[in-house]
Amino acid sequence: MTTHTPLLGKPVSRVDGPLKVTGQAKYAGEFQAPGLTYGVVVSSTVARGRIKKLETREALQVPGVLHVFTHENRPKLPWFDKSYRDEDSPAGSPFRPLYDDEILYSGQPIALVVAETFEAARYAASLIRAEYSVKKHETDLRAQRGKARAPKMGKGGFEPPPKPRGHADKALAQSEVRIDVEYETPVEHHNPMEMHAATVVYEDDGTLTIYDKTQGVQNSLKYLSKVFNLAEGEARVRSPFVGGAFGSALRPQYQLFLAVMASRELKRSVRVVMTRQQMFTFGHRPATLQRLALGASADGTLQALIHEAISETSRFEDYAEIIVNWSGLLYQCDNVRLDYKVASLDHYTPLDMRAPGAAWGVYALECAMDELAYAAGVDPLALRLKNYAERDQNADKPFSSKELRACYHQGAERFGWGRRVATPRSMRDGKQLIGWGMATGVWEAMQQPASAKALLSIDGKLTVSSATSDIGTGTYTVMTQIAAETLGLPMEDVTFKLGDSSLPPAPLEGGSWTVASVGTAVKEVCEKVREQLFKLARKVRGSPLAKSELEEVFFAGGQIRLKADPTKAVSLLEAMRHGEVLSIEEQTMALPNLSEQQKYTRAAHSAVFAEVKVDEDLGIIQVTRVVTAVAGGRIMNPKTARSQVLGGVVWGIGMALEEESVVDTALGRFINHNLGEYHVPVNADVRDIEVLFVDEDDTVVNPLGAKGLGEIGIVGVAAAISNAIFHATGKRVRSLPVTLDKVL
Ligand code: MOS
Repeated sequence: MTTHTPLLGKPVSRVDGPLKVTGQAKYAGEFQAPGLTYGVVVSSTVARGRIKKLETREALQVPGVLHVFTHENRPKLPWFDKSYRDEDSPAGSPFRPLYDDEILYSGQPIALVVAETFEAARYAASLIRAEYSVKKHETDLRAQRGKARAPKMGKGGFEPPPKPRGHADKALAQSEVRIDVEYETPVEHHNPMEMHAATVVYEDDGTLTIYDKTQGVQNSLKYLSKVFNLAEGEARVRSPFVGGAFGSALRPQYQLFLAVMASRELKRSVRVVMTRQQMFTFGHRPATLQRLALGASADGTLQALIHEAISETSRFEDYAEIIVNWSGLLYQCDNVRLDYKVASLDHYTPLDMRAPGAAWGVYALECAMDELAYAAGVDPLALRLKNYAERDQNADKPFSSKELRACYHQGAERFGWGRRVATPRSMRDGKQLIGWGMATGVWEAMQQPASAKALLSIDGKLTVSSATSDIGTGTYTVMTQIAAETLGLPMEDVTFKLGDSSLPPAPLEGGSWTVASVGTAVKEVCEKVREQLFKLARKVRGSPLAKSELEEVFFAGGQIRLKADPTKAVSLLEAMRHGEVLSIEEQTMALPNLSEQQKYTRAAHSAVFAEVKVDEDLGIIQVTRVVTAVAGGRIMNPKTARSQVLGGVVWGIGMALEEESVVDTALGRFINHNLGEYHVPVNADVRDIEVLFVDEDDTVVNPLGAKGLGEIGIVGVAAAISNAIFHATGKRVRSLPVTLDKVL
């Protein structure tokens, strides 16, 4: 006898899948409106200076052009007092498009052309001439490292490094085995398939319905409300589908501001879509320089750990991410010194990008651990196990759960790590050098306040809603599962609504916290509905449940059944009919149990094993096999979960071998700003990837026990691949991406 509909934990296919594959899912740039106009953004061609002259006359003469917005004619707006922030703003003063003549970075929007057709707008935009007085720019992090400083603290998730523990420098000097090396990582850009877009529908009553590419409809609306001083109800932001985001849509981007400004001024509907080139102009994963110094006793026991990182920020904001803290968390070590600094460049402010901070910091740490393993003559996996942290020494707290040891064992077993020959260049397949490498991954398990509403109607259909997003992660699906399971309804009878600012408040979809946060709200609100239903069911004439308590029943197949005797049941509809209610509506705000959670460090972990084949003559590197074992708490849906981790691993291959936004420091510009030259893994680069989920029971992280999987999948992958390349070739490459010229 089962007392639960076992929907959670089932590999349910995406409920929004059919809409996506049939083209019915609409993205921000695809919505239509009567009399829609089109805005095209003109970007600056210099990185620093002032606009001397902006020649728009010719553009205005193009038939169909309605207006050219520039800093000279833009409307006066409340936000230009610098007081506004968005939910993901770092310290500093956010960039304000068309504010004045000052150029802060190459690619900065300097004009918006609006026309009756896209073609007219694009052509007119090409006719705009700008003259600049150019100031010397700085876009080279290495050249600015001497000016690196502690970042100013803003709100948001950044935590400065913990205070040093022990005496790391002294312990390092006294260690029998030492490595002291520097890693360099490039700028990377999020390249979601869907480019940033906003379609602003100017309704007859002057209100705006705004379709924006965003990871937070309410964040976009709050931003607009401040910027334009909007009254409540004047605008509504929607984002029913997002074609990938990865952090790039956490902050309101300039397409949103420009489209809304134009719509309000022209009293017309406006669409602004960025070009692929412009996708490289509003935030990126920052370049870093990282020193890792590890000291150990002869058997590999860590004695000292120093991790110093410098990353870039802009001149107008201090973007900071958690790069070094992981190094004090992941291994047992009593002498640790962590340091993090930023240096200002004339680029746009960096932006959260999948596993921000951990992606770079854990890469460097895990490569350094591999170097230490060789220096000590210890197997890389054995080194991790020897220095396993049972407790978070940074915060001096226990872990709420940590099945990393099981990840190591199960991943190694599956991969066949035991058959590895330790010496570099000792495994081969003809002219292909084979390398096996491994690394650890870690990411925080967070929960944010979130709310949800549920409406069960007499026809047995349940609608649950929350103003969250589905950036491709499977939110629609998993929320539907949670609701259906809680009320014992079939999936088909449940609809989950999201991506609309008028729905109950939800946080940005980011940080891998959506299941933990919104999922908990969905569960709680459905539990409230359950209580209402149960009260009604007890009152049904002759009810077999009349004397039972809620704990004694279960909900399945549209029925409330007695656990002791499931044949004794009242249907949901019967209960509602007898109670004469047409619908049951509940709303809830789910808050994290902070007093309990704060006693623990909460994190997801992974162990990544990678095989590479390197052509001995040509240096061509192929990642032929990856096994990643993930401990992410309870897995709600193994299918969407696996897809998340697969995507992370594929991106890790890109990080390791391909991705780099190349800065032309003479121009101060990213020069490979297109998908022809910004390389990402394609099908041929993706071979055998296996994802294992390790059982992990966690009652602290949230009532669902799920830790979130959006980010953990990428962490550690580039290190495992880099370490495999060393094992294959005997050559240690300490800068990403590891391209063939670096291994030859
Ligand atoms: Mo994620 S970088 O928090 O969208």
